[in-house]
Amino acid sequence: MEIVDYNPNFLEDLWQIHILTMPENDLMTKNNFVDEFSQPTRKYFVCLQDNVPVGYIGAFNMIDDYNIIGIAVKKDFQHKGVGTKLINSLIDFAKKENVKSLSLEVDETNLKAINFYKKMGFVVTNIRKKYYKNNDALIMWLYL
Ligand SMILES: CC(C)(COP(=O)(O)OP(=O)(O)OC[C@H]1O[C@@H](n2cnc3c(N)ncnc32)[C@H](O)[C@@H]1OP(=O)(O)O)[C@@H](O)C(=O)NCCC(=O)NCCS
Repeated sequence: MEIVDYNPNFLEDLWQIHILTMPENDLMTKNNFVDEFSQPTRKYFVCLQDNVPVGYIGAFNMIDDYNIIGIAVKKDFQHKGVGTKLINSLIDFAKKENVKSLSLEVDETNLKAINFYKKMGFVVTNIRKKYYKNNDALIMWLYL
């Protein structure tokens, strides 16, 4: 298993991972997804198993923070350390760029992801009401 930078050849595999793993109310349209991957202010890492993408993380830079746009791991590969590898790659990259924090919004009902972020050291700093249709978003930060 290896973590590599995103390249456009991965796009279709990543879109499939996205639609099969993300909670329904967190789904982007394919156009938005494609658009996100082509923005220069974004940083994406991809996890490959035998040269095939099994997960990705994407974030955008806002001065001294990277806001995580999305992280998803293919179902068969979940809870095997892929998410940890991906987030650690982003942490290392952000530290090298002297960025001070990572931040994100997560659906209050997505307990798997909330557990994951807490294990990585993120703390809940705020709640954004009805951010996802009927559900609130937890705003979480990791200070580097
Ligand atoms: C959230 C997600 C990215 C985590 O990636 P992962 O590769 O499965 O996570 P890891 O194997 O690195 O697990 C690290 C920790 O996360 C938590 N975790 C992972 N899977 C979990 C599960 N099924 N239930 C509860 N906690 C879980 C645990 O704390 C775990 O530590 P442990 O192994 O000591 O129990 C992955 O589950 C996923 O793709 N979910 C669907 C997409 C999604 O909801 N993305 C977040 C949107 S904000």
